[in-house]
Amino acid sequence: MCGIVGYIGDKTATPILINGLKKLEYRGYDSAGVAIYDSEDLKVVKCKGRLACLEDKVNVENLEGKIGIGHTRWATHGEPNDVNSHPHLSHSGKIAVVHNGIIENYMKLKEFLQSQGYEFRSETDTEVIAHLVDYYYKGDLVKAVMETVDELEGSYALGVICKDCDDKFVAARKDSPLIVGLGKGENFIASDIPAILEHTRDIYILEDKEVIVLTKDEVKVYDSLGAEVKKEIFHVNWDVSSAEKGGYEHFMMKEMFEEPKVIRDTINPRIKDGKIVLDNIKLTAEDLKNIDKIYIVACGTACHAGVVGKYVIEKLAKIPVEVDVASEFRYRDPLVSDRNLVIIISQSGETLDTLAALREAKRRGARILSIVNVVGSSIARESNDILYTWAGPEIAVASTKAYNTQLAAIYLVALDLAYKKGQIDDKELGRIIEALKGIPDSVDKVLANKEVIQKFASRHYNAKSIFFIGRGLDYALSMEGSLKLKEISYIHSEAYAGGELKHGTIALIEKGTLVVCPITQDTLVDKMVSNIKEVKARGAVVMAITQEKNTEIEKSADIVVTIPDVDPLVAPVVAVTPLQLFAYYMAIEKGCDVDKPRNLAKSVTVE
Ligand code: AGP
Repeated sequence: MCGIVGYIGDKTATPILINGLKKLEYRGYDSAGVAIYDSEDLKVVKCKGRLACLEDKVNVENLEGKIGIGHTRWATHGEPNDVNSHPHLSHSGKIAVVHNGIIENYMKLKEFLQSQGYEFRSETDTEVIAHLVDYYYKGDLVKAVMETVDELEGSYALGVICKDCDDKFVAARKDSPLIVGLGKGENFIASDIPAILEHTRDIYILEDKEVIVLTKDEVKVYDSLGAEVKKEIFHVNWDVSSAEKGGYEHFMMKEMFEEPKVIRDTINPRIKDGKIVLDNIKLTAEDLKNIDKIYIVACGTACHAGVVGKYVIEKLAKIPVEVDVASEFRYRDPLVSDRNLVIIISQSGETLDTLAALREAKRRGARILSIVNVVGSSIARESNDILYTWAGPEIAVASTKAYNTQLAAIYLVALDLAYKKGQIDDKELGRIIEALKGIPDSVDKVLANKEVIQKFASRHYNAKSIFFIGRGLDYALSMEGSLKLKEISYIHSEAYAGGELKHGTIALIEKGTLVVCPITQDTLVDKMVSNIKEVKARGAVVMAITQEKNTEIEKSADIVVTIPDVDPLVAPVVAVTPLQLFAYYMAIEKGCDVDKPRNLAKSVTVE
């Protein structure tokens, strides 16, 4: 959701900005632009549409400056068009601004600025920032930005350049992601690491309300009171290739093929001498005596991982768990207190709804344990306990490998809680650990069998509506299968508990309706076979996903996609991969842009 790149150094800024923005395309955008200071003037080039359009325009303009800011916009205030795209210039043409986030008090600020004679060109909230910096600017850009951010309510990551400043630019952040890249004779800002990784691996992770001043040789960071902050350098150790397609046609496929490795990376280092060791989780058996309920709070796919978490934690640790969609949790006056553990799940660690829910739970006294992929992200920094999912950068908007690792992390947390509470003994712990260790090989086998799903998708991609039904953990899995299909293939779909279908939704089943049934829970196989019979009797076409051993399902379903005979408890981590492949091939058959689905953003940093 909106991408920012900024550069200062001895090189021509424009290609660096455009390349950086290309690395942020995954975040989702509908327009793009750059502002370059060329020693004489500020030049702004922007347009609606893809970066290719911006590149064409930039080539015509021949922008030569060595200071610049670039932006990809995901529209919130005002439709996607050339005028609303960033950068925005101030009234005087002296200040250019790029912004990610939402300024909630922008109407009030706009009225004030209009009363001072400022004229607005766009419908955006961002334009107030450009005029406000201009209003405060009396020859000191840093001071003007500090005074401006003091007035802003809402969220922002900002890059600001000024016509009078040929040696610096200024950035700031609050509740929207922004990092600083530290080069030699050049420095950068960006919304995410891949944008600058080809130039440097040394970065500063920024705190809320920090203001950053970048020259080509130096970066200074100030807190909200104007005091200089000493930052630690974070060295990025993952490879540039992790954020590239590496021969695959789409990031989504590449990321599915990374699942076995990243599941291993998430599980193996946490198992030592047959025990679970979670270094950044300090929760003790004594602390657990005061916890009588767990909340799992997250959005989208991460929330679906949380639903699996509910089943697994309740089964193993015997602690009641409630799962909440973050955007609802925050505003429903939740009964959360210091007797609760709140588990936050997020790939990006920057989802604003989730971050806001975390803060609400913390305010109410709860302990926060986060399962996060991005190291140093806001959610990671604000949590009491952290368990990183080592999924590496996930570029495709549709989350795949991050989900598998979120599940792996949830199993580790559930086992840790259960063992600390004395709910499972060494033997049971050992048995489940062995099951977890076997998952990567099983996922490998599923991926090797992908053509079965491809073939099925090639026959059914014209489906108008698809139902996913499952029981227990397979119901949780159905939710994720359904979301994946919707977001990349645009086919309407719903997930239902197998037993609930007959209470209303079965009315929608007619001849040819596709029904997808994950069936991995031994004790529920017979019940699911009955549900398959019910929908088949009304004309449905059924695809079942089940362990190889469940041969009897072949008699009821139209097609059976098999997964190896994994333990039912850990089966979701393996059985989700065929669902991801199904969504992928349906989208490909329909000619959809699988990596960048319409209307969606990778990291949702607005509420
Ligand atoms: C996943 O395919 C989605 N694009 C989306 O639901 C995502 O999982 C959700 O926005 C949460 O993101 P997070 O994990 O980065 O917090």
